[in-house]
Amino acid sequence: MAILKVRDLKIYYSTPFGHVKAVDGVTFDIKEGEVFGIAGESGCGKSTLVHSLILRKPPMVHMGGEAIFKGKDLMKLSEEEARKIRYTELSIIPQYAMNALNPTKKIKDTVWDLARDHGYTDRNEVEKLLRERLAMVKLSPKVADMYPVELSGGMRQRATMVVSTLLNPDLLIADEVTSALDVTTQRVVIELLHHFMEEGIVKSIIFVTHDLALLDKIADRFMVMYAGKMVEIGPTEDVIKSPAHPYTRMLIDSLPRLGVHYKRQKLHSIPGYPISLLNPPKGCRFYTRCPYVMDHCKEEEPPLVKVGEEHYAACHLLGGENQ
Ligand SMILES: Nc1ncnc2c1ncn2[C@@H]1O[C@H](COP(=O)(O)OP(=O)(O)O)[C@@H](O)[C@H]1O
Ligand code: SF4
Ligand SMILES: [Mg+2]
Repeated sequence: MAILKVRDLKIYYSTPFGHVKAVDGVTFDIKEGEVFGIAGESGCGKSTLVHSLILRKPPMVHMGGEAIFKGKDLMKLSEEEARKIRYTELSIIPQYAMNALNPTKKIKDTVWDLARDHGYTDRNEVEKLLRERLAMVKLSPKVADMYPVELSGGMRQRATMVVSTLLNPDLLIADEVTSALDVTTQRVVIELLHHFMEEGIVKSIIFVTHDLALLDKIADRFMVMYAGKMVEIGPTEDVIKSPAHPYTRMLIDSLPRLGVHYKRQKLHSIPGYPISLLNPPKGCRFYTRCPYVMDHCKEEEPPLVKVGEEHYAACHLLGGENQ
């Protein structure tokens, strides 16, 4: 069953030079019980997409499409309605853990503020829950009495995860939560996210990363974005084993293979730079960097084509007869 249905969603930024088309007609579902990944190079619209589900503020503008979450269109919620479902139904662990925690408040005060805001009245109960969850992420109960600045980067990340999940949101969004962490701490964070799912604290997770190797470890399915568009979506194993879009293939070829000495590996970086989203070209947005570009790629946008079970990609090389 789908917990979130995103249909032709368009989220732009209004600037003096025109609209930055950061998310430009993206469609996908998130099922209950799955970890769904969003991958793509920096600047392709991943954060814009997930943040637009929670809070849209200028210069971000909703230009079209819908995001139906548990029957309600997130694009139509008032600020008050959005505030109500935040933390209890839909929650985000933002890219920068420091931003998520109020630097002037102890962790327990931040937690109490948000619990009270959602109708909790018993502070002792809330603090008990906080201490239980801190123990779950292997943090001392003393962390409750500390300020964010007193915590190391890894501890702060775990404290942020506790705060974001305290009220058992159905859908948890993790935006590049492992990017600033060393490999060991990354593994701990991934294990914790799995643990949150197993314990029924969260039902589904959107895991955003520019690192495909991480998605391989955590996501059941994922989509690849390029310049505001979704170029491929499918079960993780299928997409990694048989990528259908040239961009996905190039992303995978740029990854070091596990177990092979890095000096013997030929890693292919993707030549060229992503295009400007102020004036994206018509046709396929990847054509300026694609080794297989054909004339009509520059004119016609490629449709999404079925290439396998639940596996779709948008490229003219794939034909279009079986969409
Ligand atoms: N406040 C803003 N105003 C104008 N453009 C923005 C703003 N925030 C992000 N962008 C642009 O939107 C595009 C998508 O950015 P973002 O969603 O942060 O990508 P990602 O998370 O994939 O790195 C980029 O081109 C970025 O420069
Ligand atoms: S549609 Fe054309 S330019 Fe785009 S990825 Fe496919 S072959 Fe390359
Ligand atoms: Mg981002």
